[in-house]
Amino acid sequence: MSTDFSDQRLSYEKGELDASALPELPLPLLQHWVAEAIEQGAPEPYAMSLATCGSDGQPGVRIVLMREITEAGVVFYTNYDSAKGQDIADNPQAEVLFFWHEMQRQVRIRGKVAKVAAAKTDAYFHKRPRDSQLAAWVSEPQSGEVASREVMEANFAELLERFPEGTDIPTPEFWGGYELVATEIEFWQGRANRMHDRIVYTKQADGAWSTSRLLP
Ligand SMILES: Cc1cc2nc3c(=O)[nH]c(=O)nc-3n(C[C@H](O)[C@H](O)[C@H](O)COP(=O)(O)O)c2cc1C
Repeated sequence: MSTDFSDQRLSYEKGELDASALPELPLPLLQHWVAEAIEQGAPEPYAMSLATCGSDGQPGVRIVLMREITEAGVVFYTNYDSAKGQDIADNPQAEVLFFWHEMQRQVRIRGKVAKVAAAKTDAYFHKRPRDSQLAAWVSEPQSGEVASREVMEANFAELLERFPEGTDIPTPEFWGGYELVATEIEFWQGRANRMHDRIVYTKQADGAWSTSRLLP
């Protein structure tokens, strides 16, 4: 049995990308688009799909949360031993994608991923709720097989006893931040008649950004 979606269509008419009024740098434009997505009530404005590809050539994609926009790119936190962590260790080239339905906008960021400084991870880890801190300890190695939900819950309960309220939960050495340092950022704005606007910023060898319009 198959399900046919081929008659489902939306017209995209919520905005346009004025190529003559673009900022010189792409990351401030990303900040601006995130702020607008929040204003428009996008339910998970920081959720981005992260695509990686390890040495086996098999791409993997999953959602992670953007925790910071830096001067160079975007930061997310995860388990370094996870499937994505292994892909990144093999091949640091990656891409993230945002889709904000409310704005009919998509942003694609391509670049190279590197671990953030341990002190930065430590500061972020200690800002997280204690339950999330303990969950990071339970989920090692993230993406590994576990026998049952009960095993996970028993591990969590044991950690709760080991680290009662008021005690410090140390940052796991297998967990932390990655920064995707952008070399290319594409802004996509849906338009009527499938005549969408696509502007791509590309980083030049001297560090300056050039822009081009792409066919939709
Ligand atoms: C809304 C949402 C937010 C998520 N945020 C994160 C995150 O910030 N970090 C993370 O490691 N996993 C996050 N996940 C879980 C990942 O999508 C994924 O299941 C997990 O990281 C294991 O991925 P991997 O096996 O490809 O390494 C999130 C999932 C969803 C749906």
